[in-house]
Amino acid sequence: MSPRHDRPVALITGAGRRVGAVIARTLHAAGYDLALHYRRSADDVHALADELERQRGDSTLLLQAELAELPALPAMLERLLAHYGRLDALVNNASAFFPTPLGTATPQQWNELFASNAQAPFFLSQAAIPALRAARGGIVNMIDIYAERPLANHPIYCMAKAAHAAMTRSLALELGPEIRVNGVAPGAVMWPSDGKPYDDQQAMLARTPLQRAGTPEDVAGTVLWLLRDAPFVTGQIIRVDGGRTLSV
Ligand SMILES: NC(=O)c1ccc[n+]([C@@H]2O[C@H](COP(=O)([O-])OP(=O)(O)OC[C@H]3O[C@@H](n4cnc5c(N)ncnc54)[C@H](OP(=O)(O)O)[C@@H]3O)[C@@H](O)[C@H]2O)c1
Repeated sequence: MSPRHDRPVALITGAGRRVGAVIARTLHAAGYDLALHYRRSADDVHALADELERQRGDSTLLLQAELAELPALPAMLERLLAHYGRLDALVNNASAFFPTPLGTATPQQWNELFASNAQAPFFLSQAAIPALRAARGGIVNMIDIYAERPLANHPIYCMAKAAHAAMTRSLALELGPEIRVNGVAPGAVMWPSDGKPYDDQQAMLARTPLQRAGTPEDVAGTVLWLLRDAPFVTGQIIRVDGGRTLSV
């Protein structure tokens, strides 16, 4: 392990683009140095790291991995600790999302959806426990309101996110008092990059008390709050959905 880095360090999975990149910018602006995990978004993550390094030097480390490959998970932690010597925050953000209508779903789709949304968060968290314990750090898991209220035609995704939600509560129970474990459950804040919306935007707004779509910044601000400003909160999953799940 290298000498302990001066500033707090956060590892964010799936950090190259979209919500993960906004979480990265938000934590970085709050003084965290970052390990930015990515899989295929090499150009995006390099551009993000360049942007953040211009703001503060020696503040980013890039970690490439396919999260379905289990040996890659402790290996990422080893590289991170060799570089920074500490870990204060883990944000399990990476996620596969696609429909699996009943009658068509395959074991391969099951494995892909569970790999990023449940299996990797668990084994990455497990590998991070000693370092997080030493730092009295925190884990934030990106869940989804669809873990509680299923999205039509997406049963396996909803099940995988529900497993991630259960993991949040189980680890919170087991890892106190040193490590707090929480989750954020967004409503739709960014449509999937294949252009297919989670559901109809107008219908969604009509059911949302705050009468607007959410933003990645809404989500990232909640992640930062849970990590930095909520020392007596653990095992909670905060819905960031404008109140949408209040209506039936
Ligand atoms: N977007 C929304 O409105 C919304 C709503 C509810 C919940 N959420 C949750 O919030 C988080 C961020 O959402 P998002 O829309 O920004 O996510 P996203 O773009 O769908 O995915 C984020 C990243 O996950 C990485 N990833 C997926 N499978 C992987 C695997 N097997 N191995 C390694 N990396 C993998 C990809 O990295 P590469 O590009 O590098 O391959 C991808 O860029 C997710 O957990 C999502 O479920 C989002």
